[in-house]
Amino acid sequence: MSFSRIRMRRLRRKENIRRLVQSVDLNKGDLLYPVFVKEGIEEKVEIETMAGQYHHTLETLEKIIRECEDLGIPGVIVFGVPEKKDKAGSEAFNAKGIVQKAVGRVRGLSDLAVFTDVCLCQYTSHGHCGVLDKRGINNDETLKILKKVAVSHAEAGSDFVAPSGMMDGQVSAIREGLDEKGFENVGIMSYAAKFSSNFYGPFRAAAESAPHPPPDAPRLKDRSTYQMDFKTDEQAMREIGLDIEEGADILMVKPALPYLDMIAKADRRFEVPISAYQVSGEYASLKQAGEKDLLDGEGALLESLTSIKRAGSNFIITYAALDAARWLSGD
Ligand code: PBG
Repeated sequence: MSFSRIRMRRLRRKENIRRLVQSVDLNKGDLLYPVFVKEGIEEKVEIETMAGQYHHTLETLEKIIRECEDLGIPGVIVFGVPEKKDKAGSEAFNAKGIVQKAVGRVRGLSDLAVFTDVCLCQYTSHGHCGVLDKRGINNDETLKILKKVAVSHAEAGSDFVAPSGMMDGQVSAIREGLDEKGFENVGIMSYAAKFSSNFYGPFRAAAESAPHPPPDAPRLKDRSTYQMDFKTDEQAMREIGLDIEEGADILMVKPALPYLDMIAKADRRFEVPISAYQVSGEYASLKQAGEKDLLDGEGALLESLTSIKRAGSNFIITYAALDAARWLSGD
Protein backbone atom coordinates (compact mmCIF):
# COMPACT_ATOMS: atom_id res chain seq x y z
CA MET A 1 0.00 0.00 0.00
CA SER A 2 1.13 3.48 -0.63
CA PHE A 3 -0.17 6.96 -1.17
CA SER A 4 -3.06 7.75 -1.45
CA ARG A 5 -4.34 4.95 0.82
CA ILE A 6 -1.62 5.72 3.30
CA ARG A 7 -1.43 9.21 4.63
CA MET A 8 1.09 9.64 7.40
CA ARG A 9 -0.27 13.02 8.31
CA ARG A 10 -3.34 11.36 9.87
CA LEU A 11 -1.07 10.52 12.79
CA ARG A 12 -0.07 14.14 13.16
CA ARG A 13 -3.39 15.86 12.61
CA LYS A 14 -3.85 17.10 16.14
CA GLU A 15 -1.95 17.41 19.35
CA ASN A 16 -3.87 14.70 21.20
CA ILE A 17 -3.30 12.17 18.44
CA ARG A 18 0.37 13.04 18.35
CA ARG A 19 0.51 12.52 22.10
CA LEU A 20 -0.98 9.04 21.76
CA VAL A 21 1.51 7.85 19.18
CA GLN A 22 4.57 9.29 20.88
CA SER A 23 6.95 6.60 22.07
CA VAL A 24 9.91 8.49 23.50
CA ASP A 25 9.38 10.22 26.76
CA LEU A 26 12.08 12.29 28.39
CA ASN A 27 11.57 12.30 32.17
CA LYS A 28 13.09 14.21 35.03
CA GLY A 29 14.25 10.84 36.28
CA ASP A 30 16.53 10.58 33.24
CA LEU A 31 18.75 13.48 34.26
CA LEU A 32 22.01 13.54 36.18
CA TYR A 33 23.33 17.02 36.98
CA PRO A 34 27.08 17.84 36.90
CA VAL A 35 28.21 20.31 39.57
CA PHE A 36 31.55 22.04 40.02
CA VAL A 37 32.79 22.69 43.53
CA LYS A 38 35.76 25.00 43.79
CA GLU A 39 38.20 25.44 46.61
CA GLY A 40 39.08 28.88 47.92
CA ILE A 41 36.09 30.92 46.76
CA GLU A 42 33.69 32.74 49.06
CA GLU A 43 30.67 32.89 46.79
CA LYS A 44 29.48 31.00 43.78
CA VAL A 45 30.90 32.32 40.50
CA GLU A 46 29.32 31.89 37.09
CA ILE A 47 31.50 29.92 34.69
CA GLU A 48 32.31 32.17 31.75
CA THR A 49 32.35 29.42 29.15
CA MET A 50 29.13 27.80 30.36
CA ALA A 51 26.32 30.30 30.89
CA GLY A 52 24.05 29.35 33.76
CA GLN A 53 26.63 27.02 35.38
CA TYR A 54 28.64 27.91 38.48
CA HIS A 55 31.71 27.19 40.50
CA HIS A 56 30.09 26.40 43.82
CA THR A 57 31.20 26.75 47.39
CA LEU A 58 30.19 24.03 49.84
CA GLU A 59 27.35 26.29 50.96
CA THR A 60 25.92 27.03 47.54
CA LEU A 61 26.26 23.34 46.70
CA GLU A 62 23.74 22.68 49.46
CA LYS A 63 21.27 24.97 47.72
CA ILE A 64 21.75 23.13 44.44
CA ILE A 65 21.13 19.82 46.16
CA ARG A 66 17.85 21.13 47.57
CA GLU A 67 16.92 22.42 44.15
CA CYS A 68 17.58 19.02 42.55
CA GLU A 69 15.41 17.38 45.19
CA ASP A 70 12.59 19.88 44.67
CA LEU A 71 12.75 19.42 40.91
CA GLY A 72 12.77 15.62 41.09
CA ILE A 73 16.27 15.15 39.66
CA PRO A 74 17.69 11.85 40.97
CA GLY A 75 21.36 12.72 41.29
CA VAL A 76 24.47 14.79 40.76
CA ILE A 77 27.98 14.12 39.54
CA VAL A 78 30.53 16.16 41.43
CA PHE A 79 33.67 17.69 39.89
CA GLY A 80 36.29 19.37 42.05
CA VAL A 81 38.45 22.34 41.18
CA PRO A 82 41.32 22.25 43.70
CA GLU A 83 43.71 25.02 44.72
CA LYS A 84 46.75 22.78 44.72
CA LYS A 85 48.08 20.83 41.77
CA ASP A 86 51.20 18.68 41.45
CA LYS A 87 52.79 16.27 39.00
CA ALA A 88 51.00 13.25 40.46
CA GLY A 89 47.63 14.84 41.12
CA SER A 90 47.85 13.84 44.77
CA GLU A 91 45.26 16.34 45.93
CA ALA A 92 42.72 14.12 44.18
CA PHE A 93 42.83 11.57 47.00
CA ASN A 94 43.15 13.97 49.93
CA ALA A 95 40.49 12.92 52.45
CA LYS A 96 39.97 16.64 53.10
CA GLY A 97 39.97 17.56 49.41
CA ILE A 98 37.21 19.60 47.87
CA VAL A 99 35.30 16.67 46.34
CA GLN A 100 35.54 14.60 49.50
CA LYS A 101 34.24 17.51 51.56
CA ALA A 102 31.46 18.18 49.07
CA VAL A 103 30.32 14.57 49.07
CA GLY A 104 30.33 14.54 52.87
CA ARG A 105 28.07 17.60 52.88
CA VAL A 106 25.62 16.14 50.40
CA ARG A 107 25.51 12.85 52.28
CA GLY A 108 24.56 14.51 55.51
CA LEU A 109 21.80 16.38 53.78
CA SER A 110 20.12 14.33 51.17
CA ASP A 111 19.39 10.97 49.69
CA LEU A 112 20.21 12.00 46.12
CA ALA A 113 22.42 9.63 44.14
CA VAL A 114 25.94 11.01 44.36
CA PHE A 115 28.38 10.24 41.57
CA THR A 116 31.97 11.49 41.58
CA ASP A 117 34.28 11.93 38.63
CA VAL A 118 37.53 10.02 39.13
CA CYS A 119 40.31 11.58 37.08
CA LEU A 120 43.55 13.44 37.59
CA CYS A 121 43.40 16.20 34.99
CA GLN A 122 42.08 18.87 37.36
CA TYR A 123 44.75 17.87 39.87
CA THR A 124 47.91 17.48 37.81
CA SER A 125 50.15 20.44 37.08
CA HIS A 126 50.42 19.33 33.43
CA GLY A 127 46.67 18.81 32.97
CA HIS A 128 46.85 15.20 31.81
CA CYS A 129 44.56 12.46 33.08
CA GLY A 130 47.53 10.30 34.06
CA VAL A 131 51.00 10.69 35.50
CA LEU A 132 53.89 11.26 33.10
CA ASP A 133 57.25 9.64 32.71
CA LYS A 134 59.89 9.97 29.98
CA ARG A 135 57.83 7.86 27.61
CA GLY A 136 54.53 9.62 28.05
CA ILE A 137 51.50 8.74 30.17
CA ASN A 138 52.38 5.96 32.61
CA ASN A 139 49.18 3.92 32.53
CA ASP A 140 49.90 1.48 35.33
CA GLU A 141 51.29 4.03 37.77
CA THR A 142 48.16 6.06 37.14
CA LEU A 143 45.99 3.08 38.10
CA LYS A 144 47.52 3.04 41.58
CA ILE A 145 46.51 6.66 42.08
CA LEU A 146 43.02 6.24 40.61
CA LYS A 147 42.43 3.41 43.04
CA LYS A 148 43.23 5.72 45.95
CA VAL A 149 41.03 8.47 44.54
CA ALA A 150 38.07 6.13 44.18
CA VAL A 151 38.48 4.79 47.71
CA SER A 152 38.66 8.34 49.09
CA HIS A 153 35.40 9.18 47.32
CA ALA A 154 33.75 6.04 48.67
CA GLU A 155 34.94 6.89 52.18
CA ALA A 156 33.35 10.32 51.79
CA GLY A 157 30.05 8.68 50.84
CA SER A 158 29.90 8.55 47.06
CA ASP A 159 27.37 6.06 45.63
CA PHE A 160 29.07 5.72 42.26
CA VAL A 161 32.58 6.55 41.19
CA ALA A 162 33.01 7.49 37.55
CA PRO A 163 36.48 6.99 36.08
CA SER A 164 36.91 9.32 33.11
CA GLY A 165 40.63 9.12 32.37
CA MET A 166 40.51 6.37 29.71
CA MET A 167 43.41 4.47 31.27
CA ASP A 168 43.48 0.77 30.41
CA GLY A 169 42.45 -1.38 33.35
CA GLN A 170 41.05 1.51 35.39
CA VAL A 171 37.75 -0.21 36.12
CA SER A 172 39.30 -3.41 37.47
CA ALA A 173 41.86 -1.46 39.51
CA ILE A 174 39.12 0.64 41.06
CA ARG A 175 36.83 -2.34 41.65
CA GLU A 176 39.66 -4.10 43.43
CA GLY A 177 40.45 -1.04 45.52
CA LEU A 178 36.84 -0.59 46.57
CA ASP A 179 36.32 -4.26 47.41
CA GLU A 180 39.52 -4.44 49.45
CA LYS A 181 38.21 -1.65 51.66
CA GLY A 182 34.73 -3.10 52.06
CA PHE A 183 33.01 -0.80 49.56
CA GLU A 184 31.49 -3.61 47.56
CA ASN A 185 28.22 -1.66 47.31
CA VAL A 186 29.79 1.39 45.73
CA GLY A 187 29.21 1.22 41.99
CA ILE A 188 31.29 2.18 38.98
CA MET A 189 29.99 4.22 36.09
CA SER A 190 32.70 3.97 33.49
CA TYR A 191 33.29 6.65 30.89
CA ALA A 192 33.96 3.68 28.64
CA ALA A 193 33.48 5.15 25.19
CA LYS A 194 34.99 8.58 25.62
CA PHE A 195 36.12 10.22 22.44
CA SER A 196 38.93 12.73 22.10
CA SER A 197 36.54 15.51 21.33
CA ASN A 198 36.54 19.18 20.51
CA PHE A 199 33.33 19.50 22.47
CA TYR A 200 35.08 19.47 25.88
CA GLY A 201 36.49 22.99 25.45
CA PRO A 202 34.16 24.88 27.81
CA PHE A 203 34.61 22.25 30.54
CA ARG A 204 38.38 22.48 30.43
CA ALA A 205 38.18 26.21 30.97
CA ALA A 206 35.75 25.59 33.84
CA ALA A 207 37.75 22.81 35.46
CA GLU A 208 41.13 24.41 34.73
CA SER A 209 42.16 21.07 33.27
CA ALA A 210 43.39 21.70 29.73
CA PRO A 211 46.62 19.77 29.03
CA HIS A 212 49.73 21.95 28.86
CA PRO A 213 52.59 19.59 28.19
CA PRO A 214 56.30 20.16 28.57
CA PRO A 215 57.65 21.73 25.33
CA ASP A 216 59.86 18.70 24.65
CA ALA A 217 56.85 16.34 24.55
CA PRO A 218 54.75 17.42 21.59
CA ARG A 219 52.94 14.07 21.58
CA LEU A 220 51.35 15.11 24.84
CA LYS A 221 49.73 18.23 23.46
CA ASP A 222 46.27 16.69 23.70
CA ARG A 223 44.52 13.59 25.01
CA SER A 224 44.69 11.55 21.81
CA THR A 225 46.92 8.82 23.26
CA TYR A 226 44.19 7.82 25.69
CA GLN A 227 40.80 9.14 24.59
CA MET A 228 39.31 7.48 21.51
CA ASP A 229 39.77 8.67 17.96
CA PHE A 230 36.42 9.73 16.58
CA LYS A 231 37.36 8.24 13.24
CA THR A 232 36.94 4.79 14.76
CA ASP A 233 33.78 2.81 15.24
CA GLU A 234 34.01 -0.71 16.68
CA GLN A 235 36.70 0.34 19.18
CA ALA A 236 34.00 1.92 21.31
CA MET A 237 32.21 -1.41 21.56
CA ARG A 238 35.43 -3.14 22.57
CA GLU A 239 36.01 -0.52 25.26
CA ILE A 240 32.50 -1.04 26.62
CA GLY A 241 32.80 -4.83 26.50
CA LEU A 242 36.10 -4.72 28.39
CA ASP A 243 34.74 -2.41 31.06
CA ILE A 244 31.78 -4.72 31.61
CA GLU A 245 34.21 -7.59 32.10
CA GLU A 246 36.24 -5.46 34.51
CA GLY A 247 33.15 -4.90 36.62
CA ALA A 248 31.57 -1.61 35.54
CA ASP A 249 27.89 -1.26 36.46
CA ILE A 250 26.95 1.59 34.13
CA LEU A 251 28.67 2.39 30.84
CA MET A 252 28.86 5.81 29.33
CA VAL A 253 29.14 7.17 25.82
CA LYS A 254 30.58 10.68 25.59
CA PRO A 255 29.89 13.15 23.97
CA ALA A 256 26.24 12.43 23.23
CA LEU A 257 24.62 14.17 20.28
CA PRO A 258 27.47 13.72 17.77
CA TYR A 259 27.72 10.06 18.88
CA LEU A 260 24.11 8.86 18.77
CA ASP A 261 25.20 5.96 16.57
CA MET A 262 27.50 4.75 19.35
CA ILE A 263 24.72 5.01 21.94
CA ALA A 264 22.32 3.07 19.71
CA LYS A 265 24.85 0.38 18.97
CA ALA A 266 25.83 -0.02 22.61
CA ASP A 267 22.20 -0.19 23.68
CA ARG A 268 21.46 -2.96 21.17
CA ARG A 269 24.59 -4.91 21.96
CA PHE A 270 24.83 -4.79 25.75
CA GLU A 271 22.36 -5.42 28.52
CA VAL A 272 23.86 -3.03 31.03
CA PRO A 273 22.56 0.50 31.62
CA ILE A 274 24.03 2.97 29.15
CA SER A 275 24.36 6.64 30.02
CA ALA A 276 25.28 9.47 27.70
CA TYR A 277 27.06 12.73 28.55
CA GLN A 278 25.79 15.83 26.83
CA VAL A 279 29.10 17.61 27.25
CA SER A 280 30.00 21.22 27.82
CA GLY A 281 30.43 22.11 24.15
CA GLU A 282 27.07 20.66 23.23
CA TYR A 283 25.39 22.54 26.06
CA ALA A 284 27.22 25.84 25.57
CA SER A 285 26.55 26.00 21.84
CA LEU A 286 22.82 25.42 22.20
CA LYS A 287 22.58 27.72 25.17
CA GLN A 288 24.38 30.56 23.37
CA ALA A 289 22.42 30.08 20.18
CA GLY A 290 19.25 30.32 22.26
CA GLU A 291 20.45 33.43 24.07
CA LYS A 292 21.25 35.06 20.73
CA ASP A 293 17.80 34.12 19.44
CA LEU A 294 19.28 32.12 16.59
CA LEU A 295 16.95 29.34 17.65
CA ASP A 296 14.58 28.42 20.45
CA GLY A 297 17.07 27.39 23.14
CA GLU A 298 14.56 25.53 25.28
CA GLY A 299 13.12 23.66 22.33
CA ALA A 300 16.53 22.76 20.94
CA LEU A 301 17.85 21.51 24.30
CA LEU A 302 14.78 19.38 24.96
CA GLU A 303 14.91 18.05 21.41
CA SER A 304 18.55 17.05 21.72
CA LEU A 305 17.97 15.39 25.11
CA THR A 306 15.01 13.49 23.68
CA SER A 307 17.13 12.33 20.73
CA ILE A 308 19.82 11.12 23.11
CA LYS A 309 17.19 9.15 25.01
CA ARG A 310 15.66 7.83 21.76
CA ALA A 311 19.08 6.56 20.66
CA GLY A 312 18.98 4.25 23.66
CA SER A 313 20.56 5.87 26.69
CA ASN A 314 18.99 5.09 30.04
CA PHE A 315 19.90 8.48 31.40
CA ILE A 316 21.70 11.65 30.41
CA ILE A 317 24.34 13.67 32.20
CA THR A 318 23.52 17.24 31.28
CA TYR A 319 24.23 20.79 32.40
CA ALA A 320 20.68 21.55 31.31
CA ALA A 321 19.22 19.21 33.95
CA LEU A 322 17.73 21.92 36.16
CA ASP A 323 16.25 23.83 33.24
CA ALA A 324 14.98 20.68 31.55
CA ALA A 325 13.33 19.49 34.77
CA ARG A 326 11.58 22.85 35.06
CA TRP A 327 10.48 22.82 31.44
CA LEU A 328 9.24 19.23 31.75
CA SER A 329 7.15 20.26 34.75
CA GLY A 330 5.68 23.06 32.68
CA ASP A 331 7.17 25.83 34.89
C1 PBG B 1 37.93 14.68 32.93
C2 PBG B 1 36.65 15.01 32.29
C3 PBG B 1 36.40 15.81 31.17
C4 PBG B 1 35.03 15.87 31.01
C5 PBG B 1 34.46 15.10 32.02
N1 PBG B 1 35.49 14.55 32.79
C6 PBG B 1 37.32 16.61 30.32
C7 PBG B 1 38.31 16.02 29.44
O1 PBG B 1 38.32 14.83 29.15
O2 PBG B 1 39.14 16.82 29.04
C8 PBG B 1 34.32 16.65 29.95
C9 PBG B 1 32.96 17.08 30.29
C10 PBG B 1 32.42 18.16 29.45
O3 PBG B 1 33.00 18.64 28.45
O4 PBG B 1 31.31 18.56 29.79
N2 PBG B 1 38.72 13.78 32.30
